[in-house]
Parts: sequence; structure tokens; C-alpha cells
Amino acid sequence: MTQEYEKYTPQDLLVWQLLFDHQMRLLPSLASPAYLAGIEKVGFQRDRIPNFDEMNAQLAQITGWRVEVVEGLIPNKAFFELLENRRFPASTWLRKMDQLAYLEEPDMFHDVFGHVPLLSNQDFCNFLGGLSQVALRFIDSELAIELISRLYWYTVEFGLIEDADGLKIYGAGILSSQGESVYCLGDQPQRVRFDVAEIIITPYIKEKFQEKYFVIHAYRELMDALPELARLIAQQSEEGRLYDTILSRQDFEDNFENIPKSINESALVVANTKISKVPKGSIGTVVHVYENKDAYEVEFIVNDSSIVETVFSNQIEEKVAK
Ligand SMILES: [Fe+2]
Repeated sequence: MTQEYEKYTPQDLLVWQLLFDHQMRLLPSLASPAYLAGIEKVGFQRDRIPNFDEMNAQLAQITGWRVEVVEGLIPNKAFFELLENRRFPASTWLRKMDQLAYLEEPDMFHDVFGHVPLLSNQDFCNFLGGLSQVALRFIDSELAIELISRLYWYTVEFGLIEDADGLKIYGAGILSSQGESVYCLGDQPQRVRFDVAEIIITPYIKEKFQEKYFVIHAYRELMDALPELARLIAQQSEEGRLYDTILSRQDFEDNFENIPKSINESALVVANTKISKVPKGSIGTVVHVYENKDAYEVEFIVNDSSIVETVFSNQIEEKVAK
């Protein structure tokens, strides 16, 4: 696939300009200097939709990475294989005027404006390449890929960095979001030190702003965390196998009160979960049960979509007490 540059309309250009202007008013004080320098290096301008060939020519000289046109979201294996070959997948279509503030599926503004500038940073690129190698090693394990996706999510998409320049944004999901680029550095969300072990047990949040951000101190730290990631995944996959249960919806409903699940070996009985929250279709794999103060969260990977759903049980204590 290629970018059909001549097919962009004046409306597309206007959308690019409005988004670009809005973010560039905000980001100089909020975004990581490495990202801002990347915008210059790849030559983004307000009055020109980026041309992939030109962008790739720039990137080739800096880090050897390039952007590969894809239609939309692609399967995990294809995605990590592209990264392994120093290619970053990006779509070429732009959102419509009534979608400036929020868009469900990533468009070119997210993929290109959000992601591409940091492809000019070698430490960051090394991490992407290294992460893809870990992912391809475990590609047949749905559980492993879910955990790796969380690390990707809390870094590449929603990462913050704090160094001599202060606390700044480098995650593309934030950089391309009008609201979240302000919200993430404000009083509301939690910000904690980057920690792979914590990230892989933190399910990600879609469709609303993140509640928690993980803060690195240097881009190099990302690559340095990969051996720990691989070790934890190997360990989790092993433990996970003990508890993974493939359930049909009917099985799930019939046996719900008797599903013992815990990664801590203390078998817990999960009861009274709101079944209405369970996604339609087959249930998939139960990944984890987390114990909170007054609830258990049961986490699933839905077989057909690889989306993690979390359901809650608020009346668990009395059930367990019985
Ligand atoms: Fe993205």
C-alpha cells in the first residue's frame, strides 16, 4: 500500500492544520524535547499534510526507520514483524471535522503526528525493535502478548518522561489528544515511577483518559527494562497456564460461582459478578483475578478480539466467608 497523496482534499488539509495548530500551541511546554526536535527533523509543517516518501527519506538518514502504510489496525504478529524490521505502521486517512477532539480508531494524525517524531530518537527506536523481538518470541501466547501490549500502551502510547527538562509527554496517544495532553500533567491522574512488573498487571483503559501514567527518567530505560519483561512474561505464562480457562458464555454463566482463579495460589471463589458487563460472544481466557479492597476484578481476554475486559465483584467478601 502507498499513500495516495493527490487524493487529499482541501478539507483534509484543513483538518491537519487545525489539529496541528492546536497541538503546537500546547506541546512546546508539555512535550519531551526529543519529540519536539523530531517534529523539526521529519519536517512537519502546518500547511502541508506529511508526505510519507519525504518523511521516510528523513528518517532513513537519522535512525534507519520508516513508516509503512497500513489500512488500520493490523494483527499482532504482523505489527511486531514490522517493528522488528524497523517499520512503523501508519494509516494515511484523516479524521473528519466533527472528530477533531476524539476519534476511536487511530487516524493519520495519531499515527504520524503522534508517533513519527520519536522515530528520530535512537534510544526509543531501540526499544521498539527490542520489544518486537520479545513479542515475536512469545507470539503464540495470548497472555504474553497481552502483557507486552500493556508495556507498549503505558510507554509508546501513554508514556511520560521526567528528566532535567521537567515532567514531559512522549506517548503518542497523549500527544495526539487535545484533552489528554493537558489532563495527564494535571492534578487528577496518578503518576508513578516506570516499573515493568507493575505495568504488566495494570490493564489498560480505552475510551477515556488514563487514570495512571508511568514516568521514565530516560529513553534508554525502556530498552534496559526488556530483559525484566521477558523474565516476567516467562514466569507469568507458566503460572497463567495453571489458571487459564477457556469458557463459552454458557459455561461461564453456569459455573460462575465455582470458578476458582488466582495467581496467588489461594483459590478464590468469584461470585456475584455483574454478568451484564461481560462482553457478548465467547468469553475467552480468564487471565487474572486482582484483589482490591472491596472487590475482585476478573480479567478476560476475549477470544475473537484480544480485548481485555474487566468485570467487578463487589459482594465477594461474604461469599468467600461462607
Ligand atoms: Fe498509536
